[in-house]
Amino acid sequence: MIALGCDHGGYKLKKAVIKYLEENNIEYKDFGTYSEESCDYPIYGKLAANAVASGECDKGIIICGTGIGISITANKIKGIRAALCHDVFSAKATREHNNANMLAMGARVIGEGLAIEIVKAFLGTEFSNDERHIRRINMIED
Ligand code: RB5
Repeated sequence: MIALGCDHGGYKLKKAVIKYLEENNIEYKDFGTYSEESCDYPIYGKLAANAVASGECDKGIIICGTGIGISITANKIKGIRAALCHDVFSAKATREHNNANMLAMGARVIGEGLAIEIVKAFLGTEFSNDERHIRRINMIED
């Protein structure tokens, strides 16, 4: 189950992500926002991050205008490793190295086509389970 969250700036891109998830039978829970009306990204970043941190959802995808505000928000929640990615290499690497459990993107930074490729890379890449990466992730948690 994928937790989704966005603000007004990320709403349209979230709809494109939802289309991709539905076409690929990937379950999701959408924590809002549900329109392009101006709103505050910390509300939706926190809701989606809490769902991942509690185990209700396995991973999360959060979107705002830049991806920055919503990723900063999510990373305040214990257990969340939200990676702001605007390229496919980073999306793959953050799964392999950081075991990132949330992907953040900026809808005003990249187009839908690239965003979907980033989502595919993020959801399709497993954590390496490499000892040195586990050690570093544990250091983050500490
Ligand atoms: C909203 O205008 C914008 O500030 C927000 O989407 C995001 O870019 C914040 O980091």
